[in-house]
Amino acid sequence: MALLEVTNLRKEFGGVIANDNVSLRVEKGEIIGLIGPNGAGKTTLFNCIVGYLKPDKGRVRFKDEDITALKPFQTNRKGIARTFQLMKVIADLTVLGNVMVGSFCRTDNRRIARDKSLEVLEFLELQEYSNAYPTELPIATQKMIELARALATKPELLMLDEMAAGLNPKETEKMVALIRRIHSEKEITLFLIEHIMEVVMSISERIIVLDGGKKIVEGPPKEVAEDKRVIKAYLGERYVKG
Ligand SMILES: Nc1ncnc2c1ncn2[C@@H]1O[C@H](COP(=O)(O)OP(=O)(O)O)[C@@H](O)[C@H]1O
Ligand SMILES: [Mg+2]
Repeated sequence: MALLEVTNLRKEFGGVIANDNVSLRVEKGEIIGLIGPNGAGKTTLFNCIVGYLKPDKGRVRFKDEDITALKPFQTNRKGIARTFQLMKVIADLTVLGNVMVGSFCRTDNRRIARDKSLEVLEFLELQEYSNAYPTELPIATQKMIELARALATKPELLMLDEMAAGLNPKETEKMVALIRRIHSEKEITLFLIEHIMEVVMSISERIIVLDGGKKIVEGPPKEVAEDKRVIKAYLGERYVKG
């Protein structure tokens, strides 16, 4: 049984087919990379999986349960958390407050939520920022706060949308190390969209490639990087270096 199974998923926006008959499986414990040129449909696929968007066709199953019709807070309770390509930190809550929003997915008790959130901040080495307001902090730190909020919901599957975007090489390296620790120490399955090739190739055990809404290739990073269909999909797009 796959942890996540997407079958024949389709999503159209007024003539633009953002996801065209996409099927994929994510096994428990894997790190899967999702790549493809800008506009390939990666973020839309994430949105359909977690329930931010309703697919026009197709099914999403998580732990052998149909979650296609569920709302984001419900898929979150089931064990799926995600971060956003365009960050969504809450400006008028402190860093701790932002993370507690995640913890409330598992408890109604403020004290427990606070303790759990502090634990997550410590794991990410962000405890010194607990009482700061996120928008006062660098983008890289804000991205980690979003990661902290996602982790505080205690996910089994964590979906990351372009965590390295906008980060400098040093920050990117730190983010990659953190993502690896989340996988190895918390045993969380990872499904990540990443535009920086070096990053996605080095982290992922398996890579899925979307182009024009369709899944065109799937396989180990080395094979995918050398695949003619993948190279063709990226032609015309500037090769993004880390
Ligand atoms: N909410 C939306 N309304 C209309 N079109 C959208 C919407 N979201 C995405 N699209 C379109 O769907 C396609 C896929 O977008 P997206 O999933 O964001 O791609 P990616 O994340 O791979 O860059 C693009 O053509 C984009 O313009
Ligand atoms: Mg996107």
